[in-house]
Order: sequence, then C-alpha cells, then structure tokens
Amino acid sequence: MSFTLHLLDWREGESRLRAVRESVFIQEQQVPEELEWDGLDAACRHLLALNAQGEAIGCARITPDAQIGRMCVLPQWRRQRVGAGMLQLLLTDARARRLPEVHLHAQLHALPFYRNFGFVEYGETFMDAGIPHLAMRLLLS
Ligand SMILES: CC(C)(COP(=O)(O)OP(=O)(O)OC[C@H]1O[C@@H](n2cnc3c(N)ncnc32)[C@H](O)[C@@H]1OP(=O)(O)O)[C@@H](O)C(=O)NCCC(=O)NCCS
Repeated sequence: MSFTLHLLDWREGESRLRAVRESVFIQEQQVPEELEWDGLDAACRHLLALNAQGEAIGCARITPDAQIGRMCVLPQWRRQRVGAGMLQLLLTDARARRLPEVHLHAQLHALPFYRNFGFVEYGETFMDAGIPHLAMRLLLS
C-alpha cells in the first residue's frame, strides 16, 4: 500500500494531525487530552503521512529544542515502514538544519524502533501519561 510523507506546520495540517493523534494517543492509548494538547504544536515542525486517498495515516513532530515526539501510525498501517519513513525524514530535515543532536521520550515497546536509527537510551525509566518511557538521543554531527 502506498503512502506519501509531508513536512508542514501546524496551521497547514492541524485537522489531519489532530485526527491521527486523537485516534492513537487519546483513544487507543488513553492519554489524557490535556497532556496530548500541550500547547507546543504551533511552534513545532510536523510530519504527516497520507494514504493514496489523501487521508492521514500517521504523524510526528519535532519541537524547537529538537525533541522528536507524537510519533504514531494508525494500527492498520503499522509494520509497513510508515514510522521509519517519518523518522528518516525528520532526521534528514534536522541534519539539513545542522542540529547537533535530537532526543525523544520513547515508550518502552518502541525502543527497538528507535534503536534501528542509532538512538541510545539514557537515564531511568519514568512514567508519562501513565505509560513507561525512557529518554533517548542521537548525535547528528
Ligand atoms: C511505534 C510506531 C510509530 C512504529 O511505526 P510503524 O510504521 O509500525 O514502524 P515501521 O513499520 O516503520 O517499523 C520499522 C522497524 O521498527 C521496528 N519496530 C516497529 N514497531 C515495533 C514494535 N512495536 N516492536 C518492536 N520493533 C518495532 C521493527 O524493526 C520494524 O521493522 P520490521 O517491520 O521490518 O520488523 C507504531 O507502532 C505506533 O504508532 N505505535 C503506537 C503509538 C506509539 O506507541 N508511538 C511511539 C511513542 S514513543
């Protein structure tokens, strides 16, 4: 199944970005709405994955301080390289902007996904929105 990836700002993608995150984080993972909508989106660069019909199937973002987050793919599209494609494009963009490092908070089940790209975990496991996480970082330079 084919999909396309798009870098965009919040204003351009808000309704479709909200739809995917609402479905994955708020409904599927039970993240409280007040944590999901943290007020940072307008300042972030966003990545949107669309299917052949132009419907949103995945998204991610990077904050001004180089934290990748809100990485998600709809269940029926998982394990088809959508997430890997989104992360690759965010890293290409970060390198083009000469960011020295990117970091993220990984849900524990997603550690192998990020390790594939060279991310290394550090620190202790912590809870965020009731879900265990580990901090990870990747040096770009
Ligand atoms: C994590 C997530 C974004 C991965 O997206 P995806 O499109 O399914 O991932 P990809 O198909 O690009 O996977 C690339 C590789 O990462 C690894 N990987 C992906 N998901 C994995 C998982 N759940 N467990 C272990 N390895 C995984 C695999 O090596 C995979 O390659 P393979 O399919 O050839 O084995 C997706 O599972 C998701 O949206 N989960 C729910 C939301 C979430 O938990 N987000 C992470 C927040 S930190």
